[in-house]
Amino acid sequence: MTASTDQASQNSRFAPRIFSGIQPSGGLTLGNYLGALKRFVEKQDEGIETVYCMVDMHAITVWQDPARLRQQTREVAAGFIAAGIDPERSILFNQSQVTAHAELAWIFNCVARMGWMNRMTQFKDKAGKDKEAASLGLYAYPALMAADILAYHATHVPVGEDQRQHLELTRDIAIKFNHDYDVDFFPVTEPLIEGAATRVMSLRDGTKKMSKSDPSDMSRINLTDDADAIAQKFRKARTDPDPLPEGPDALEGRAEARNLVNIYAALAGVEVAQVLAEYAGQGFGAFKPRLADLAVSVLSPISARMGELMQDTGEIDRILGRGAERADAIARPIMEQCYDIVGMVRSRG
Ligand code: TYM
Repeated sequence: MTASTDQASQNSRFAPRIFSGIQPSGGLTLGNYLGALKRFVEKQDEGIETVYCMVDMHAITVWQDPARLRQQTREVAAGFIAAGIDPERSILFNQSQVTAHAELAWIFNCVARMGWMNRMTQFKDKAGKDKEAASLGLYAYPALMAADILAYHATHVPVGEDQRQHLELTRDIAIKFNHDYDVDFFPVTEPLIEGAATRVMSLRDGTKKMSKSDPSDMSRINLTDDADAIAQKFRKARTDPDPLPEGPDALEGRAEARNLVNIYAALAGVEVAQVLAEYAGQGFGAFKPRLADLAVSVLSPISARMGELMQDTGEIDRILGRGAERADAIARPIMEQCYDIVGMVRSRG
């Protein structure tokens, strides 16, 4: 299921464009911030064209209360802006306002194979034991995700580690479409999974990823947590009794310890080795308060700004509307060409 290297070089005909998305199915976590948002801002600041999306249609693949979904879409948008996304330089919008996503997803439903979808581990995790009761949308989720990316001919997608398999499927869909229709139409997108925090783990269990859907709020840091909550969650975070080691290799087999060191490194913007050089030999009793202080210093300005932005949801809606118009201006012509390639008659004035 991997793309050949000539496929990657084929991408040179596509201008670099970044696309990524976040589900507004809950509040933003430190995992979303370090694995995604912080890196979205870096890409924007590198001057690459960046398109960022609140994927509300993905969110409803599992039940969402309508009022909460609306609120969370705005709150996640506020999180993007508070973290440093400039809606002038980046395109920021919510998925359902640009119809190309749903349209292209249907075409990709007809390109992707059942066998490919059956291998998707996220479906298995999310559907749980009762697969018969899962929505059809949850099953088709990765085809919509491929549509999100390819509707913009995006060449690069910054994500956390948990999205790797979905991005491989996106590549497979692009390759199969290009092959079936004998075109060089969709780029074979490169995942960007980089840095110390591509997989931030739960504070209660170092083998599970930090997630907005974990039933225990103590397992995660929310972007809206205040300083006391952040300090308390790190203080109670599970660790082992050993002191911090001298080098990164010695963190092998110490999932919780490694997680906290990775979080520190990502928040401070330094290498793991640098963190260990500073703290080697110290226990978690000393390390955790320093980590909490660092997290508060990074997150509290973001959460304060989010709070301010949420005072004026009309303005957030205007930003999303404007972003959707700009997104549509890119996706619409791509969609029309795609319909033409597939053989659909397009004769409306
Ligand atoms: P979602 O909403 O679960 O998460 C959004 C982004 O945050 C990253 N992330 C993490 N990174 C590190 N550690 C963690 N604990 C952690 N938790 C979440 C995710 O990897 C992701 O980058 N399917 C996607 C949304 C999506 C999308 C797309 C992404 C829909 N269409 C197109 C990229 C391109 C999702 O559920 O992300």
